[in-house]
Amino acid sequence: MKKLMVLLMVAAFVATAFVAMAQDNGPAVIKMTKKGTVTFDHAKHQGELKIACADCHHTDGYAKCSSCHVKKADGKKLGYKKAMHNNCIGCHKEMKKGPVKGCKSCHVK
Ligand code: HEC
Ligand code: HEC
Ligand code: HEC
Ligand code: HEC
Repeated sequence: MKKLMVLLMVAAFVATAFVAMAQDNGPAVIKMTKKGTVTFDHAKHQGELKIACADCHHTDGYAKCSSCHVKKADGKKLGYKKAMHNNCIGCHKEMKKGPVKGCKSCHVK
């Protein structure tokens, strides 16, 4: 009986590990170059800062923001710049952490 329990626990552990491995976390650091270069530490925002994927991605697909948020706002969808600024600056303001003011704190030449 004890052996069976251990076996079940090992199986559960392996299953969890597989799910964790299957998740694509995307690049650790993302350089966005539409206006200067914004160096975004994706891994730090996911890991150390413990921000939920859905706080930024709000869809299960993890598609590029620009695949939906195009240059111009469309119905309920924000335009690209607003989507990025509302997401990034919005949270930094709320948490009183991370760059808010000064374009150069994100957009480095
Ligand atoms: C603080 C915001 C934020 C958080 C939190 C976050 N991401 Fe991202 N992620 C981004 C941004 C911004 C991009 C770049 C999107 C683009 O190029 O339009 C990105 C890109 C990605 C990509 C690559 C998409 C592509 O097609 O190139 C994947 C995959 C991804 N994220 C998965 C995740 C997962 C999984 C989590 C949670 C563990 C997560 N992200 C958490 C903001 C975030
Ligand atoms: C599959 C299409 C799609 C992708 C990919 C997508 N969005 Fe959105 N986004 C939408 C739609 C549609 C809305 C309007 C939703 C609503 O009003 O309920 C929205 C709303 C928003 C909003 C305003 C409301 C809110 O939830 O805060 C922000 C900010 C935002 N998106 C940022 C982002 C960022 C940043 C990314 C990439 C990490 C991203 N979006 C990726 C479709 C998308
Ligand atoms: C849900 C909250 C949240 C969102 C969304 C978010 N950030 Fe942050 N960000 C933080 C916090 C918290 C810090 C402070 C980290 C610290 O002080 O160590 C931070 C710090 C930063 C820093 C300072 C350097 C560093 O890595 O610590 C940069 C640059 C940054 N964020 C860029 C971005 C960009 C670009 C986006 C949008 C694509 C974004 N952030 C979205 C919470 C967020
Ligand atoms: C918290 C970080 C942050 C701050 C602060 C910030 N931005 Fe951004 N901004 C971004 C990110 C991320 C993008 C998406 C960049 C990309 O895809 O290359 C962006 C996109 C833009 C774009 C759109 C580029 C395009 O071609 O679609 C413009 C214009 C812009 N920002 C101007 C500004 C100005 C002006 C300021 C200061 C008033 C500012 N930003 C402050 C993060 C920031």
